[in-house]
Amino acid sequence: MTARKKPEDLRSFRWYGPDDLRSSTHRSRTKQMGYAQEEFQGRPVIAIINTWNDLNSCHTHFPERVTDIKRGITQAGGFAVELPAMSLGEVLMKPSTMLYRNFLAMEVEELLRSNPVDGVVLLAGCDKTTPGVLMGAISMNLPAIFVPAGPMLRGNWRGQTLGSGTDVWRYWADRRAGKLDQAGWFEIEAGIARSAGTCMTMGTAATMMSLTEALGLSLPGASAIPAVDSNHRRMASASGRRIVNLVWQDRRPTDFLTPAAFDNAITVDMAVGGSTNAIIHLVALARRAGIPLDLEHFDRISKTVPLLANIRPSGAYLMEDFYYAGGLPALMAQLRDHLDLSAPTVSGASLGENIAGAEVYNDDVIRSITNPVKQTGGTAILRGNLAPDGCVIKQTAVEDHLLRHRGPAVVFVSMADLKARIDDDDLPVTPDSVLVLQNAGPVGAPGMPEWGQLPLPKKLLQQGVRDMVRISDARMSGTSYGACVLHVSPEAAIGGPLALVRDGDMIELDIPGRRLELLVDAAELARRREAWQQAAMAQQRGYARLYVEHVNQAHEGCDFDFLAGAPGSTPEPVIF
Ligand code: FES
Repeated sequence: MTARKKPEDLRSFRWYGPDDLRSSTHRSRTKQMGYAQEEFQGRPVIAIINTWNDLNSCHTHFPERVTDIKRGITQAGGFAVELPAMSLGEVLMKPSTMLYRNFLAMEVEELLRSNPVDGVVLLAGCDKTTPGVLMGAISMNLPAIFVPAGPMLRGNWRGQTLGSGTDVWRYWADRRAGKLDQAGWFEIEAGIARSAGTCMTMGTAATMMSLTEALGLSLPGASAIPAVDSNHRRMASASGRRIVNLVWQDRRPTDFLTPAAFDNAITVDMAVGGSTNAIIHLVALARRAGIPLDLEHFDRISKTVPLLANIRPSGAYLMEDFYYAGGLPALMAQLRDHLDLSAPTVSGASLGENIAGAEVYNDDVIRSITNPVKQTGGTAILRGNLAPDGCVIKQTAVEDHLLRHRGPAVVFVSMADLKARIDDDDLPVTPDSVLVLQNAGPVGAPGMPEWGQLPLPKKLLQQGVRDMVRISDARMSGTSYGACVLHVSPEAAIGGPLALVRDGDMIELDIPGRRLELLVDAAELARRREAWQQAAMAQQRGYARLYVEHVNQAHEGCDFDFLAGAPGSTPEPVIF
């Protein structure tokens, strides 16, 4: 057990403690805000990083949650300050929130470094906000606890349960095929997102909140509590109380983020059928913590861990059902033989202690190891001459007949090209074709948008086709499904083999064999490579320029090359 800090050991004491003119000014200006000296001096100053804004529909409850967290911090003897950070509302921000994940991470790190902060509560949940705040907090490496936004309530339409994203894609296919009128569609719009909270399928948000709990960075059971449940408010205030203790005990993110913790998170990722995006984010988090994590590691675990969470898009239920069935502690209790139960967590107890006694209340929602939804984990890593550095597919959301497939390519050089031609009656496409999208990766788009679930051609939808093999260097929403090969690395825009594919080339996908091959002879590929020219970068200034000049490829986590490793090593600011 680490010795408890003394008040004069607090980082904030450097701002508030000394008897000099500069510190006097710090105290005076804090008093200007109405606080008495005994409220802030010698007490842990706890920042609440709040990723709220009026255009993030998933975080509308955050102003109330900040109040709950502040209550807990004050009860435990801390001094709570709210530090708003950039919100990344997944749906309304363009071209992609992924472009701004690293921006949020940098903002969080610098907010913490530049202010008199001893510890931090990270309030986030909508897709990229979770990895964004975690990446920044790891790099700063002050005591931290994560408060997940929690999922929204189940969707509802004409007696049907609707799941975020997953049912949008499903019913939109019906709409394009002429089976659903506009009035019905508008009703779906109003019924599918009907409370505060994140998407309630096992999309990127629910996946990342679950994995953060598995990493040991949030309180046990926190990740599945619906956003509008009063238990969520109690979890928020408990997190506020807990962070004050973490500061006194000097327990920092790197105390929890060990290789074993990442193995636990990957194991949970496979068992919940997590979003493909989680792979990119976990790699980025591990690299921030100085822990190497390659794609093969995911695949090794994927082969041994069954899919237990029966949640859309890989299963039938939603996050609200998962919570009532026992939530993540109950699922991890089923997985106990695959987990390192000695891993420490921010609760003060080990992972094993956190899940001791956790019960499953609905064994169709949370399956047992002997009755899984599927025998293997959610995500598979493929390699081959089309993706030398790897690519990803959510194998549990692929129709069985496409697990092994060979077909001719239909190539789109950009999203604009795809939008212009996909519904063209003359497009030479059949259900056996392989749709290929180039230049949608980290540099090419830029920002690697969620374009990877390429829309199916209308003429095939009208024939009843609902899945085809699709390949891109883009990502895909975690709520999506289908035979979509994603994150092809290296990407087309920097000269990856994806850039060399031409209409009619045969492509072979073999998910059980973990292969993705472009069946074109080497001499012809060499000729094409010789003729290939990199397009001029459109990004001439500002953040987008910084991004394309420094972003890593998908298999490296899409972080900036200058931000990985050495957590907590940047010098503290000079106070003068
Ligand atoms: Fe926010 Fe899906 S749009 S989590």
